[in-house]
Amino acid sequence: MQFDTPATTNPIDQLKIVGRPVRRIDGELKVTGRATYAYEGREPNLHYAYGYPVGSAIAKGRITAMDVTAAQDAPGVLAVVTTLSAGEGEKGEYNTARLFGGDRIQHYHQAIAVVVAETFEQARAAAALVKVDYAREEGSYSLHDVRQAAVKPEDAGGSEPDTAVGDFEGAFRAAAVTLDEDYTTPDQSHAMMEPHASIAAWSGDELTVWTSSQMIDWWRSDLAKTLGIDKEKIHLMSPFIGGGFGGKLFLRVDAVLAALGAKATGRAVKVTLPRPFVANNTTHRPATIQRIRIGADSDGAITAIGHESWSGDLPGGGPETAVMQTRLLYAGTNRMTAMRLATLDLPEGNAMRAPGEAPGLMALEIAMDELAEKLGMDPIQLRILNDTQVDPENPERPFTQRDLVGCLTLGAQQFGWDQRRPPASRREGNWLIGMGVAAAFRNNMLISSSARVRLDHAGMLTVETDMTDIGTGSYTIIAQTAAEMLGLPVDKVSVKLGDSRFPVSAGSGGQFGANCSTSGVYAACVKLREAVAAKLGFNSDDAVFEGGVVCSGNRSIALAEAAGPEGLAGEDKIEWGDLSDSHQQSTFGAHFVEVAVDLATGETRIRRMLAVCAAGRILNPLTARSQVIGAMTMGAGGALSEELVVDTARGYFVNHDLAGYEVPVHADIPHQDVLFLDETDPYSSPMKAKGIGELGLCGVSAAIANAIYNATGVRVRHYPITLDKLIGGLPGLA
Ligand code: MOS
Repeated sequence: MQFDTPATTNPIDQLKIVGRPVRRIDGELKVTGRATYAYEGREPNLHYAYGYPVGSAIAKGRITAMDVTAAQDAPGVLAVVTTLSAGEGEKGEYNTARLFGGDRIQHYHQAIAVVVAETFEQARAAAALVKVDYAREEGSYSLHDVRQAAVKPEDAGGSEPDTAVGDFEGAFRAAAVTLDEDYTTPDQSHAMMEPHASIAAWSGDELTVWTSSQMIDWWRSDLAKTLGIDKEKIHLMSPFIGGGFGGKLFLRVDAVLAALGAKATGRAVKVTLPRPFVANNTTHRPATIQRIRIGADSDGAITAIGHESWSGDLPGGGPETAVMQTRLLYAGTNRMTAMRLATLDLPEGNAMRAPGEAPGLMALEIAMDELAEKLGMDPIQLRILNDTQVDPENPERPFTQRDLVGCLTLGAQQFGWDQRRPPASRREGNWLIGMGVAAAFRNNMLISSSARVRLDHAGMLTVETDMTDIGTGSYTIIAQTAAEMLGLPVDKVSVKLGDSRFPVSAGSGGQFGANCSTSGVYAACVKLREAVAAKLGFNSDDAVFEGGVVCSGNRSIALAEAAGPEGLAGEDKIEWGDLSDSHQQSTFGAHFVEVAVDLATGETRIRRMLAVCAAGRILNPLTARSQVIGAMTMGAGGALSEELVVDTARGYFVNHDLAGYEVPVHADIPHQDVLFLDETDPYSSPMKAKGIGELGLCGVSAAIANAIYNATGVRVRHYPITLDKLIGGLPGLA
């Protein structure tokens, strides 16, 4: 199905099942421990062995020798596969770093060997016996040190690295009120609950892999390339995933090591990356330095807005696209954005939840708060005044829908924004209390997506697509979509995901998964409805699917009967036309936060959070809310604690575990509310839905920073906002 004109009325609009708070259909499997995650492996016929990885102890250089004799002789060891024995190794299409193979070291904890043994403990003990000699080279590990050497990247995530409209410099110089500040965001780790893990088993030249992946087809293609085998020889499955956040978008080395270990031993081999490897072996969100300049009239209308961002990556990598939202969020005739990329020899930087916008808004939305203060304006008023209904860089392109103003005004009313006081003027005992706001913005991307649906003689509908559910609720919204399309209850729909034998879906990424994968299922269901109608001699345009029955004119037939003993199937792919050329599709929101800051220690406690989101049709308010509160929690971590600390002498992330890399826990998040504006966007898809999972993170950290400023009068522009950055400016105990 080609989607190239805005959607009109279709069966989804009935909203009998879609849009309802259906509980997760996979919830019971998960809470009873029956959902099988990658490392668990419950194939009765497989005799599992365990692979433990060895990581490089240097960040850059070459391996000159490896001695594996002690490891090989250790108890229980079946095989040791080293990077030297594995050949040069190809880079996958989607990877910047070489995952395995050859003597070159590109980054710390790059995998250089896997030890396979009868037990996990034996493999781990033997891995410690591998002796490695290195020729170490000088590397570059500090973004601040190499900022001046950063260059304009060739590619910036498919976008132009620079944009310019009007006369930014002139307008900025002439503006009545100006702001010019630098902001920084640190390297961040996905810190998903389930570490990367794979099981591999060979049968002749055919490889079966159970793994934890957001993108089945990308992984399969890259694994085939890395192993130098035909993609068709790989069967890859990832039915349940314990979080990804972008860290499982691209093939990781656990799958490669499991496949090589299995080849070497003839056994089914399990490999999980030990927690420290998640930080230094896999990808992370790159640190940024951002300069924001805004000029405004004395009445608050923006006349000039400029955003520059510096980040680093391994050679061949790309920039963190932190300026993207600034091209679209606020009005202003004179504009510029620029991204600059430096070479760093740290582990590979890559996508983490809302890449670009998440760190970009951490900066821009503090800047807007600062500008409001300079103007003597309420920060909500400033944002409303500078709203735009068209792409400000290309004013002939309207937004398909944009209700940022609605999010801000409803949020202000619900949150009690009128209770906000001037900075450092509200105190309860030893706590300084403050409120902050920020806009949320994230683009809505469209990726093609296929599915297959089968109706059987018992009236059961089975959906198959290689879509993944990374905790987001894909199983449930796909079941809702298929049920709505065929007029069946949700419990008559069986959803099978995460298997390379199923049609290729959009996968889980860029908050496009929900809208795109359900649209693929919609397209397949249209095909199935046509097959049912054709078999019964109905006109498919006036056939009504309802209550397990299909009706046309005065005839009505049970779907089970229509399917017959052989059943009926439909398969299709949603593909996107050029609607995005003429119209800009984005999602919007507003975050409100109240904090209390201890006036002696600078300890910040979040008291209340509210998100208001405008993101097209909400397919399931339970799973959507769950995405947003999770994202708000992640934003709290980004504001207050999360930072991969770089050892700039040795070139690695020091705090590479969940003790040192601090993510929020329940006690950090006392109260969260989420409101969705009632929207449908006919330009987004037949589902009229957009993404929500990344929008929920965009702006949260800035709202917290702004609340801290309102509480204390201390403006911090460098994340995370830890006690040491506040304590010198606090009023202290009077
Ligand atoms: Mo997302 S960072 O595209 O998983």
